[in-house]
Amino acid sequence: MALHTLALGENLHTVLRKTAQFQQLPWISLVSRNVTKEAQHDRERSQSVTAFYYQSAIDQAAAKPSVRLTPAAIMYAGRSHDKSHILRSAQYLSKELPVRIAHRIAGFRNLPFIVGCNPTLLQVHELYIRAFNILSNFPVITSLDQEENFSKTLRQLLDDHNDVVTLLAEGFAQVRKHITDETLIRTFLDRTLTSRLGIRMLCEHHLSLHDEKPNHVGVVNVAFSPRKLIEKRAQYIQSVCQEKYGKAPEIVCNGHLNSTFPYIQPPLEYIMTELLKNSFRATAEAHGTTSHLPEIVVTIASNENDFVIRVSDRGGGISQKVASKVFDYNFTTAGSVRQDQNQEVGIWEGFMDNPQSSANPGKMHGYGFGLPTARAYAVYLGGSLTMETMQGIGSDVYLRLSHIDSAKESFRI
Ligand code: ADP
Ligand code: COI
Repeated sequence: MALHTLALGENLHTVLRKTAQFQQLPWISLVSRNVTKEAQHDRERSQSVTAFYYQSAIDQAAAKPSVRLTPAAIMYAGRSHDKSHILRSAQYLSKELPVRIAHRIAGFRNLPFIVGCNPTLLQVHELYIRAFNILSNFPVITSLDQEENFSKTLRQLLDDHNDVVTLLAEGFAQVRKHITDETLIRTFLDRTLTSRLGIRMLCEHHLSLHDEKPNHVGVVNVAFSPRKLIEKRAQYIQSVCQEKYGKAPEIVCNGHLNSTFPYIQPPLEYIMTELLKNSFRATAEAHGTTSHLPEIVVTIASNENDFVIRVSDRGGGISQKVASKVFDYNFTTAGSVRQDQNQEVGIWEGFMDNPQSSANPGKMHGYGFGLPTARAYAVYLGGSLTMETMQGIGSDVYLRLSHIDSAKESFRI
């Protein structure tokens, strides 16, 4: 309390800032490390000082609302030969990102103590504090040279945060036993994962303003084809399924096969991968003794305001007891996480983490994050994800998403 009062005085504020910079500790280290006793003592002291200083910076940013944009606003933001649109985009992001990241840190701070102290979750918490400090200390961007540095910093941060979903999945699997309030965890994860998706989409959009990719305005593919995406992901999952089970079902697409429209592909790529992965696995496991597997049918319907993708499998469906849990974070029938780590790595792993890049995803199978995360993303994108199942036969999953250029009010990123 006394420290808090003092911090309002300019001198302590300056001293704390200098201390933080001098000691080159731009973020607090929450994870214990192997250091000598004396060094540890010093470190702890400077950590608490630094933590104290940045606490107020984070609190101030966390109190601000985020400025969310519609995909149309992003897509139609003017392009200019002098690249001033890139400069404007960097200026928006350099103000916006610290606010959004501070909201995430506030989320970690509000977790129940026993949950928030988990070392894996602390690691993620620390990553966000580090990102906050890097971004909030970035000089005001007034030139394209500074913008270039800013973009390099963003690229690096995106890479550093690649494993966040995997770490959250691991961390929550470890603390499950301490959790009595499922809603609290769901609210935290829905918010954290969708806010992260938004942050990453904005960063990727900014970075791609530098490239001239055919049919793209930044991260928006103006001629997105659901069919092409589905076929591409199915081909990959089929090969993984073949490797694991020695067989894989065929996939058939029908409906509005030729429809194309503007869309932001990466989150849809993530969702479709999760849905197809589940259907391939269920089909292969439900027909263990037969060599012929019933095909998976994917139906596409694109309408004025929204589009719907249905994935139908004959993978045996789900019992009622299980069906009520499939959208719970960390619910899986793939065996325990530990078992999975020993037995399944390299088979179903590699599907998600970074929704922007299917080339560099993390390990996910067996954490039970696929369906709840896919549903959270769908809702964030102004849509829904529902499942109808017929035990003994198979399951239908319906993904409904709104078009980003429809007359209806769009979701905001
Ligand atoms: P994971 O794939 O890691 O288990 P998910 O969240 O994707 O996590 O799925 C949770 C559980 O829901 C799965 O373990 C499985 O039991 C069940 N499930 C999901 N989709 C299907 C499906 N199409 N058919 C049968 N079971 C399914
Ligand atoms: C994340 O991927 O977790 C982010 O929030 C990215 C951001 C630090 C650039």
